[in-house]
Amino acid sequence: MDNFLINGGRAVRGEVKVSGSKNAALPILMASILTSDKMTIENVPDLTDVRFTKGLLEYLGKKTSFLRGVFVIEENRKLKHKAPYNLVRKMRASVLVMGPLLARFGHARVALPGGCSIGVRPVNIHLDALKNMGARLYYKNGDEMLFGGNLKGGRIKFPFPSVGATENAMMCASLIKGRTIIENCAREPEISDLAEVLRKMGASINGDGTRRMIIEGREKLCGVWHKVVCDRIETGTFLILAAITGGRLILKNTDIKYLPVVAGCLAKSGASIKTVENGIEISGPKRPRPVSIRTAAYPGFPTDLQPLWTAYMSVCSGKCFVEENIFENRFMYVAELLRMGANIRIEGKRAFVNGVEYLKGAPVMAGDIRGGAALAVACAAARGKSVLRRVYHIDRGYEKLEKKMRKIRVSIIRRKNI
Ligand code: UD1
Repeated sequence: MDNFLINGGRAVRGEVKVSGSKNAALPILMASILTSDKMTIENVPDLTDVRFTKGLLEYLGKKTSFLRGVFVIEENRKLKHKAPYNLVRKMRASVLVMGPLLARFGHARVALPGGCSIGVRPVNIHLDALKNMGARLYYKNGDEMLFGGNLKGGRIKFPFPSVGATENAMMCASLIKGRTIIENCAREPEISDLAEVLRKMGASINGDGTRRMIIEGREKLCGVWHKVVCDRIETGTFLILAAITGGRLILKNTDIKYLPVVAGCLAKSGASIKTVENGIEISGPKRPRPVSIRTAAYPGFPTDLQPLWTAYMSVCSGKCFVEENIFENRFMYVAELLRMGANIRIEGKRAFVNGVEYLKGAPVMAGDIRGGAALAVACAAARGKSVLRRVYHIDRGYEKLEKKMRKIRVSIIRRKNI
């Protein structure tokens, strides 16, 4: 397992090119199951979850190539209809094959994903959505879901705007007869990017980006070319890195419009942000003012940036809280921040932060993608040396994080296989 060795405490400076969005790329790659035509997807980040998806598509029978951000998917043999546990357990987003397989072949066999380090993460909302489109569900061996049935457009009302369930429903609805209406759907920019792809493929989709989407399915969808939207979570990660180190960065290939609440919170904390051509410029404050946040579905404060915000606030000049409302177990990284000298207390959904003047380098361990990124940022700001273990979590969601950090003056190296 690789480690990062980080010698922190220096303000970052320079320019970062933001990659394509992981959370948009994964469903878009899964949408290739809806057609036998060639798909060419550009601006795909080279990270482990994309490699897992490549493996999954190849397992199903697709032919793929992935070079310098361009992912090409072709089909020249019959596809399998199942995603076994050894693939699903590696990446929960594998459940996004359910909707497309079901729509295209009328049946699918997908292993039930387990929980993960940030929460139980059930798939009941995905399943209810597919049932509303006529899918019938059977269980085999207690852990495999088998679907069949006569699929047709339906009316879906989500109890919570689940991102993955919205994507599964959209993909399924695009290739079945009739009109599907999805109420209380997710509104993330990644949803609109998927909608854009499905529209290019021939589906009629209205209302993406709002709470109600209307989809008219088509009998056949065609192959397309598409460029994936920028990664707003990577953008937020570097904005917070600049802010916590009191540095100055220009982020390219991104747009602050995808982070409305985060931009406001950064400004309140004392950072100054402005829009530049094709990007964002940020200058961090000497020491951040305390700013409490509450995570919420888009356009609220993204749960994926919650660990980064806590890391930032750990050096604020006062007291604040960070409230997590999406996942029930997303404060695991806090114990590691405490080892760096942070003063944080967890009570239920809230982390109460009492800002310290500075963090101190320490050996710490990543437990999930965003918690790991928060620790990398904390180590870059901390005085002294840190060893960050289990960086494979970070590699799942960030493209060349340490190279990008090194370019902006962070002293960080990867130590292989320790
Ligand atoms: C996606 C993102 C993830 C982000 C999350 C919330 C991808 C690949 N991942 O995950 O980075 O943190 O959105 O913005 O895009 N839930 C249920 N039943 C379900 C589905 C979800 O109870 O059937 C619950 C989950 O346990 C969680 C909440 O709903 O508590 C949000 O989950 P969801 O929006 O579905 O997140 P993901 O799509 O898994």
